[in-house]
Amino acid sequence: MPGDPADLIGKTAAYMAARGPRIEAALEAAMPHCCALPGPLHEAMRYSLFAGGKRIRPLVVLASAEAVGGDPDPVLPVACAVELIHTYSLIHDDLPSMDDSALRRGRPTCHVAFGDALAILAGDALHALAFELLARTAGRAGAEPTLRAICEIAAAIGTQGMVGGQVLDLLAEGRPSLARFGAWPTDHKMGVYSIHRWKTAALIRACVCSGAILAGATPEQLADLTECGEHLGLAFQIVDDILDETGDSGVLGKDTHRDAAGDKLTFPFAFGLERSRAIAQEETTLAIAALAGWGASADVLRGMAHMLLVREG
Ligand code: IPE
Ligand code: IPE
Ligand code: MG
Ligand code: MG
Ligand code: MG
Repeated sequence: MPGDPADLIGKTAAYMAARGPRIEAALEAAMPHCCALPGPLHEAMRYSLFAGGKRIRPLVVLASAEAVGGDPDPVLPVACAVELIHTYSLIHDDLPSMDDSALRRGRPTCHVAFGDALAILAGDALHALAFELLARTAGRAGAEPTLRAICEIAAAIGTQGMVGGQVLDLLAEGRPSLARFGAWPTDHKMGVYSIHRWKTAALIRACVCSGAILAGATPEQLADLTECGEHLGLAFQIVDDILDETGDSGVLGKDTHRDAAGDKLTFPFAFGLERSRAIAQEETTLAIAALAGWGASADVLRGMAHMLLVREG
């Protein structure tokens, strides 16, 4: 039956199985080798990147390009770039001065394995390499759409995106009254939306948008995809919060109950588990509704939204 979540998830799973190896091969080709100088830096970068992440963001880049009728090949470097950016953000997120996490992608975190300094620098180098890959995309996808995609991604990870969201996340530790942070919503319920929209949804939205821009999306298509990406990204972080309380560390590949330990302002804290689940469902519904006027070409994105809502890892 068209629109059936199980069918859509099956379609997305098949898509992931087909495109996943291409993403892995492109990542491998893009990464410096451990034998090249400085070896320990490259080792730390590769250690975190090739530890088995879900690769949701690169898959979304490709799925979005294909949803507007584009070819996945020219956007592969962009898919790699967003995964490098995401991996850099995880390495920094895990540092003792941030979330102080010991396990990531089923392995000791980068700073536990290589020390804080090398972990910070591995993150920095992944970030730099991402922008080199993005700039190189111009040769295959054209200068104008590439520049637009670069702007989209850079804005999504800056002060009013991922990094800004990480700052709000840290400021909200201890769940203080938010009134003292000026223009920020004073209420925990509103505040946690702001944190999650910036720290996580912005990059996921940029993945959806950049794939579509490079594949020649019309302004109308881009508006639908932007809305879809924003809701998809918010649902993703709400589910991440829920899994931190209810999930299995072995399946997640990271320690659970870290948010409570860090007095983080999360959806379960602000709304309770049951309401958080309902909001994640609502956001997923909104992500899919944004593509209401689209045909089967958007099924992989629809299935991705369903899949990310019911994920356990
Ligand atoms: C974890 O992201 C960090 C968040 C933004 C919630 P993922 O759950 O996508 O992590 P990997 O890439 O699969 O390790
Ligand atoms: C991380 O959020 C968001 C970014 C890395 C930008 P979390 O701190 O909740 O992610 P996990 O739970 O450590 O993966
Ligand atoms: Mg964090
Ligand atoms: Mg964390
Ligand atoms: Mg989390």
